[in-house]
Amino acid sequence: MKLRTIDNLDVRGKYVLLRDDFNVQIVDGKITDAFRIEQSMPTIRALRDAGARIAICAHLGRPKGARNMEFTLQPVADYMKIPLINDCLDKDFMANMHDGDVVLLENVRFYSGEEENDPAFAKKLSDGFDIFINDAFAVSHRAHASTVGVAEILPSYAGKLLSSEIENLDAVMQNPTRPLLSIVAGSKVSTKIGVLKALAKLSDTLIIGGALGTTFNYAMGGRVGNSLYEADQKDTALEILQYAKENNCRVLLPLDKGVAKEFKSDAVRTNKNFSEIADDDIIIDAGVETTARDASEIRNAKTVIWNGTVGMAEWQPTWSYGSFAVARAIAEQTRAGKLVSVIGGGDTVAALEACGVKSDITYVSTGGGAFLEYIEGRTLPGIAILAE
Ligand code: 3PG
Repeated sequence: MKLRTIDNLDVRGKYVLLRDDFNVQIVDGKITDAFRIEQSMPTIRALRDAGARIAICAHLGRPKGARNMEFTLQPVADYMKIPLINDCLDKDFMANMHDGDVVLLENVRFYSGEEENDPAFAKKLSDGFDIFINDAFAVSHRAHASTVGVAEILPSYAGKLLSSEIENLDAVMQNPTRPLLSIVAGSKVSTKIGVLKALAKLSDTLIIGGALGTTFNYAMGGRVGNSLYEADQKDTALEILQYAKENNCRVLLPLDKGVAKEFKSDAVRTNKNFSEIADDDIIIDAGVETTARDASEIRNAKTVIWNGTVGMAEWQPTWSYGSFAVARAIAEQTRAGKLVSVIGGGDTVAALEACGVKSDITYVSTGGGAFLEYIEGRTLPGIAILAE
């Protein structure tokens, strides 16, 4: 998709409303992962250097249209060392702005008009601005006032991060170097039906892992013990397998699993094949054989798309085994110039970060739900409105 970009846009002295996705994890007032903020910086720097007067509009969490300071963007403003404007509809600060100034507006979801895409709210939000720039790929699957409403009012453009997401995702979806291997894991089949089908159509091989894989194993008659899986998704899983077959996509399901008797980070780990899984076993990670097979598939691929960890990657080191092995195999091949790797989703990116290989990956998306919807081939309203 060709978007209106900010290249060659004259922004000197102009009031720019910039939508960023700063929906980051904050623990005790401190940002634990600034990836989305850092990825937004090239656009902010370019606009600042070009003399724009920038007000960044963002959301944090789901405050449900009420002013709830649990969801304040103050930690983000502190991290970026820029002033926070306490109310996103306040315009008083604009009179004191100089070229190159940057401020952050308080959480736009403190108003219900944001998620309702209320035209009156979008009008108030856009008042006083000359230009709207959307750089918030990660929330562009939402038709909200700050993604779509304001773009209907102001001249609107895609920022550098948004453009780069589209370029990289389009490249891998439209013209991948084959063989293309997709790895989809995570917890729920119900949230990933669309992406599983899209990737089954696109890929040469599809590895399905994590709790998602457990549901597929269950659908195929495998033992799953006391694990997390979706019994009601059995037919959907079988339908996806059939769809993959019709599209000549080889599907690989988990062969064995890391299991425990309790679902906790320090539980004792045992490796079991599906036939050995007892009624009180809980699957928490991919098994040794599965992991070795996945690593070998990665070594044979020329392109990998990965979304979803194959186990509880945050429970290190016992239960991160499978996810870290996948991350390291992808990183190693990419570093060696043998693989194009595209990875998206909060937990998956956190796993890359935790095992120190994020910078080796060809492209790491800032999107979670937006990444899945884009790969699925859906039209993202916040992006469609920026099409040339
Ligand atoms: C995300 O974190 O995926 C985006 O910021 C969207 O957040 P939402 O799911 O609360 O709309």
